[in-house]
Amino acid sequence: MNSKLDLLAQKKAEALLGGGQKRIDAQHKKGKLTARERVHFLMDEGSFEEIGMLVAHRSNDFGLEKEKYLGDGVVTGYGTINGRLVYVFSQDFTVFGGSLSETHAEKICKIMDLAMQNGAPVVGLNDSGGARIQEGVVSLGGYADIFYRNVRSSGVIPQLSAIMGPCAGGAVYSPAITDFILMVENTSYMFVTGPNVVKTVTHEEVTSEELGGAMTHATKSGVTHFACANEIEAINNIKQLLSYMPQNCEEDAPAKDYTPGNELRTALNSIIPENANQPYDIREVIEGVIDAESFCEVHKHFAENIVVGFARLAGRSIGIVANQPAVLAGVLDIHSSTKAARFVRFCDSFNIPLLVFEDVPGFLPGTDQEWNAIITNGAKLLYAFSEATVPRITVITRKAYGGAYDVMNSKHIGADMNFAWPSAEIAVMGAKGAAEIIFKGEIASAKDKDAKWKEKEAEYQTMFANPYRAAERGFVDEVIKPEETRIKLIRAFKMLENKVDQLPKKKHGNIPL
Ligand code: HXC
Repeated sequence: MNSKLDLLAQKKAEALLGGGQKRIDAQHKKGKLTARERVHFLMDEGSFEEIGMLVAHRSNDFGLEKEKYLGDGVVTGYGTINGRLVYVFSQDFTVFGGSLSETHAEKICKIMDLAMQNGAPVVGLNDSGGARIQEGVVSLGGYADIFYRNVRSSGVIPQLSAIMGPCAGGAVYSPAITDFILMVENTSYMFVTGPNVVKTVTHEEVTSEELGGAMTHATKSGVTHFACANEIEAINNIKQLLSYMPQNCEEDAPAKDYTPGNELRTALNSIIPENANQPYDIREVIEGVIDAESFCEVHKHFAENIVVGFARLAGRSIGIVANQPAVLAGVLDIHSSTKAARFVRFCDSFNIPLLVFEDVPGFLPGTDQEWNAIITNGAKLLYAFSEATVPRITVITRKAYGGAYDVMNSKHIGADMNFAWPSAEIAVMGAKGAAEIIFKGEIASAKDKDAKWKEKEAEYQTMFANPYRAAERGFVDEVIKPEETRIKLIRAFKMLENKVDQLPKKKHGNIPL
């Protein structure tokens, strides 16, 4: 028996070394952790159970039969994060550059299948040179096997992708289908075609970092939701994100202990400036309402005119969507609409109630917006809110103008409760523009046109630049003092705790993509 145990120990030791010490050292030299170190930092201490540690590839082409590494370039298994079951795969760059072979793909598919059968999230730690070139189409098939499972799992179990190194070619599409992407600054990149191909085809000279680095995707494309300073920050962000989510679509997110106290927040009374055209930071409102230090902002650097993220209210997980008056006056445009729509759909998929803070002057005008389909993209947000069946509450802090009033989780599209602050202005448009249109003739024939315009502007202002017209109609359920917002929301979400709402029977909707 002893010799058999020795053989087992020897094989395990071999697997633990991946592509060998030299390549591990090279990985460290680049400022990167190894696949196993990442798993170690991600999972609760001692909880990780590896599956398929001794798997080896079956390729005999290009001399590969002489080069086999146990595990074949990916560490897969399960364990716990903050005590909850999570499945993980972690690509090992020291083995053929983490490239995806037939067996590497099979290992990933195995844990994806287990995750679906057992209703728990999958975290993918990506660090790969793409398809194992020596294996050809078998490797491409392996990718497609993963993509297919990503799609089948979407909306059933949370899927998170951290990009810890290269992720190029078709390989990008697995992370793209998952719910959240985290990238590490300076050591990770994602692109469909790299700088060399770009240079050949478009004659653009661009570095990998410029083309597909973390900040590029965090700010320009919105492909990544988080740009992290280093791998440990990325791993900690994964843990934090998971803490707001249920294990699967049948469950509720875990709640934290909450002891009721004085819920009045007087600081909220003085956030809105006297002048309705002055900006303020909506994050002050968010922070003023939610449980202390519970905000986890998603997509922080992308489409900053809307703020989205997870938070806790009285210990319970909620998703927040908030117009940001401090950026572009909080206007809705293509990027902010798609950013918010995707977030709303994630929350709805996983039973996370939605809280909306609204201060929006409308949709952004211009040829750029129209020609790039603000119509289709704005409709995504309208669609996402309208189909969401989770508890939904809106607080109008200031402007709720035009079509954006309807889109931003209005009662008409299914919001359960709609509160407004006394500073709310709910109208088709701002008073100045409205007066110009509806009193055009009167203004034109007046002796003092400016004075007339101002008079009519004031008239419209008095009529609509308040929440009371909407409250008369019941479009606003209650006009509340800002300081009461937290307590009102805690009670309203509690009241909606057992909400049951179902979409009409259908195969699936047809969101305007
Ligand atoms: C097999 C690979 C590999 C790959 C890297 N290696 N990529 N082996 N298949 N795709 C191996 C290298 O031979 C090397 O082996 C080791 O991994 C480390 O690679 P280096 O080049 O030394 O590392 P580095 O300088 O850091 O460069 C990393 C890299 C580069 C940028 C990823 O290796 C690279 O460009 N690789 C090819 C990328 C690629 O074209 N992939 C196919 C994309 S198409 P040794 O033995 O020296 O350690 C694709 C289609 C997917 O993926 C489609 C899905 C639908």
